Amino acid sequence: MCGIVGYLGHRKSKSILIEGLKRLEYRGYDSAGLAMLVNGKLKLARSVGRVAMLEERLEQEGGFDGTIGVCHTRWATHGGVTELNAHPHKDDRHGLVVVHNGIIENYAALKTYLQEKGHVFTSETDTEVISMLISELYEGDLEKAVQAALREVTGAYAICVMCEKEPDTLVVARKGSPLLVGVGNGEYVVASDAAAIIAHTSQAFMLDDYNVVKITPSGFHTTDIHNTVVTPKISQLEIDLEQIELGEYSHFMLKEIFEQPKALRACMSGRLDTREGRVVLGGIGSFGKEMTKAKRVVFTAQGTALHAAMIGRYFFEDVAKVPSTWEYASEFRYRNPIVEENTVVVAVSQSGETADTLAALHEAKERGALALGVVNVVGSSIARTTDAGVYLRVGPEIGVASTKAFVGQVCALAQLGLFMARRRLMSAYDCTKFMQHMEALPEKIETILGQADRIKKITERYIERENWLFLGRGYNYPTALEGALKLKEISYIHAEGMPAAEMKHGPIALINEGLPAVFIANRGKQYEKVMSNIQEVRSRGGHVIAVATEGDQHIKNYCHDVIYIPDVIEPLSPMLTVIPLQLMAYYAAVARGHDVDKPRNLAKSVTVE
Ligand code: M6R
Repeated sequence: MCGIVGYLGHRKSKSILIEGLKRLEYRGYDSAGLAMLVNGKLKLARSVGRVAMLEERLEQEGGFDGTIGVCHTRWATHGGVTELNAHPHKDDRHGLVVVHNGIIENYAALKTYLQEKGHVFTSETDTEVISMLISELYEGDLEKAVQAALREVTGAYAICVMCEKEPDTLVVARKGSPLLVGVGNGEYVVASDAAAIIAHTSQAFMLDDYNVVKITPSGFHTTDIHNTVVTPKISQLEIDLEQIELGEYSHFMLKEIFEQPKALRACMSGRLDTREGRVVLGGIGSFGKEMTKAKRVVFTAQGTALHAAMIGRYFFEDVAKVPSTWEYASEFRYRNPIVEENTVVVAVSQSGETADTLAALHEAKERGALALGVVNVVGSSIARTTDAGVYLRVGPEIGVASTKAFVGQVCALAQLGLFMARRRLMSAYDCTKFMQHMEALPEKIETILGQADRIKKITERYIERENWLFLGRGYNYPTALEGALKLKEISYIHAEGMPAAEMKHGPIALINEGLPAVFIANRGKQYEKVMSNIQEVRSRGGHVIAVATEGDQHIKNYCHDVIYIPDVIEPLSPMLTVIPLQLMAYYAAVARGHDVDKPRNLAKSVTVE
């Protein structure tokens, strides 16, 4: 969603700020803006549209050559996509600007109060309230004014503040929305995402909720909003530049699809002890015992991560034999959920910042559950809120349409399930056998990726069709949902995913001549049932594209197109069956001329409810 970059140091800040914003473009936004102090005077520019347009504007206006500045990409929440609503938001009394990620919940009451005090608002945003409030409380000390303002604010924020009256100072603060301070050699880069920092320094610290950091050329000083001193821990960022660059690929999504074998190897590395027949999960630490005693496991997430969570549920019941359920985090958090003793709640998230998933986790902890996380971004809010967890280790995911994080999530959940199964009922021998199947997955994915050109050709035959169905059963019902979501997100084709058996209960009415129906029909317990469903679609004129197991010649007689995947045991099959679906979505979007990495209306991580 929104992105923040700030710089204070000895170099001209414009290119650092703009490059930083470009690194954050993948998160999704609709307008951008930048403010800089040049000889102690504020210069500000904002524009609707891409960062490149803001860059043009800076060039036209000229004079943006200061060494301290802040900038922002905005994804509209309060107020439309206009220049006036774009950040930074300015207060003229003290020449103060604020960029903000998050939502101020009590902004309406604060706005009324500030208007009564004579402040004139020029935007419809909640952010402008913060700049006015800081200004109202300013008595010659920006850090103190920010602390005082944040004591009045409810909601979520990451902010970066700059003021003409203290031209050598940036003040940043966080509650709920991520913010990092990169510490370089005599310079500081502040950003909401490590991707904007890594080109300048690999040393950084993440602000904790309610932290306020004052940064000047002579160093930084961290407190909480009550001015109690806090000592942040500087550590090494866990990404490198190559991981966030396109390289030879035309889109990040394609790069990440092709990175999946490597991503899975990293996800499993050092965790599968096939000699001893056990899974080694350092992130579970001392919580292994409590986890093993679980009477119920609740998986919670949103979007693609929820589809992975659903597969986790199948896995835990089938392999670890623990009663399990899944829930949209957004529903769980407001549902007054019953959390009995020995309940484990597992939050699944790539970014670790999804607002609903984070809130569901807080709710679960509040009600006494053991809170586990299956998260990609190290040190993210969800990772920090959980009692224990498993990192995906698939590297930064830049493509808005999640691909490698999905297989990483399914793989990490399988490791977690196996960890539990081994402690509850599985023999070392069976565990070793299972893990050997897991270790074979990356190579099997490589053979599917080798068919990319053929998958492209198949997809292009159907791209004129506006409605698609994705059908699967058991472990591959969530995969069908994921296939439909991928296609919708980037090609804007309407697609529905569902359990294959559900089709007869209504959606079958949609089937007309040529409707593409993608069946996940790999060999497994319900193969025969899926075959019957295929025939039901065929006999009504639908065009069946099947994802089937290598060597299955029989299925060719009933389908228009078959994409083969290597044989695999059923609980692990989603990590293979999803690959052709990701490629189909990608090629459909490209064929339709869409910007795959910047799909309309979407943000990479949804940090608002
Ligand atoms: O960062 P998270 O995994 O928590 O994100 C959850 C969803 O917002 C995310 O998976 C979304 O559905 C993606 N756009 C899917 O491609």
